[in-house]
Amino acid sequence: MLVTGGAGFIGSNFIRVMLEQTAGFEGRIINMDALTYAGNAAFLYDVAKKYGGERYIFEHADIRNKESVDRIFAEYAVDTVVHFAAETHVDRSIVKPDDFITTNVTGTFTLLEAARRNWLDKSGSMRRDVLFHHISTDEVYGSLGDAGYFTETTPYAPRSPYSASKAGADHLVMSYHHTYKLPVTLSNCSNNYGPCQFPEKLIPLMIINMLDGKSLPVYGDGKNIRDWLFVEDHGRAVALILKHGTTGEKYNIGGENEMENIKLLYTLIKIVSEKIGRDAKEIEKTINFVMDRPGHDRRYAIDCSKIKNELGWRQRVSFGEGLEKTVDWYIKNRYNYSVEPA
Ligand SMILES: NC(=O)c1ccc[n+]([C@@H]2O[C@H](COP(=O)([O-])OP(=O)(O)OC[C@H]3O[C@@H](n4cnc5c(N)ncnc54)[C@H](O)[C@@H]3O)[C@@H](O)[C@H]2O)c1
Repeated sequence: MLVTGGAGFIGSNFIRVMLEQTAGFEGRIINMDALTYAGNAAFLYDVAKKYGGERYIFEHADIRNKESVDRIFAEYAVDTVVHFAAETHVDRSIVKPDDFITTNVTGTFTLLEAARRNWLDKSGSMRRDVLFHHISTDEVYGSLGDAGYFTETTPYAPRSPYSASKAGADHLVMSYHHTYKLPVTLSNCSNNYGPCQFPEKLIPLMIINMLDGKSLPVYGDGKNIRDWLFVEDHGRAVALILKHGTTGEKYNIGGENEMENIKLLYTLIKIVSEKIGRDAKEIEKTINFVMDRPGHDRRYAIDCSKIKNELGWRQRVSFGEGLEKTVDWYIKNRYNYSVEPA
């Protein structure tokens, strides 16, 4: 199994889920990652120690590099791709979209081409015992008003260079299924949180700033709504799709856990203040409302009834429990990060 972007936030958590929680999975994982600012091979040092060589191999390589991708497909006889690698931070895509286009669109294309070339049987037909699973986001659907949910049939309406590049990749993946019969599945997930997320994203940024006694920047009026899912629940959903999903289908994955950013921040302040013994009211005083992100989507909310009804997936980790685990992880690991602003 080739996992791209496995040194990043969701990819590293997914690899753990596959190796440690997925009954019946006995394959070997090749983690291909270019180690951009967001990737950190150290997230999986313990996994490398435990499974290294036999069931886990790290390849420091770029998905945009055709030679590297071809070599990895051939060397490891890859039969499954789980494609996480991407540029992922909306703010960075607004300042400098270049890598978003080359990695998210061209990189996905390079992987699809390798799969198309390598997965033909002796008669030149596409193999059926292979799978390309593409990881996408709910942001491709655009922004919601106060009501409604994104379903798998919601038309795409991306509004940032990040979401547009992900939408482009999604369309390419589906086009390879329809045109070349490449066995693909696709999932669109809501906002993830948990250990190993680079602290430019809302939850880890707020935790680390609280721990460092810095101010807590909140975009606009703080009333933007996101639907939060614990990262391991996402990993388990992907593992289920790999096992039981139908090729050519897409699955929405969500937390069914909508929250305004400002309300989330107050919840985090409560948890952190109790853990580090600081007065919550004092931390609240450091909240700083800053100018809104251009084109900031107001609300995302996912209808994930398809994966629940068809594959029996359920979220297992409650928001309270997940936030506790996340805060604990950052208290332990915060000195491993130096954050360069976008
Ligand atoms: N974080 C979320 O809340 C969220 C929600 C839905 C979907 N997604 C999607 O999930 C995937 C993973 O997101 P994440 O939050 O873990 O991202 P991340 O930024 O934490 O990690 C991305 C990983 O990809 C690697 N990478 C980047 N460019 C590469 C390249 N050219 N070649 C090889 N590796 C490269 C990085 O080194 C890093 O390890 C992305 O496709 C993202 O669009 C994320």
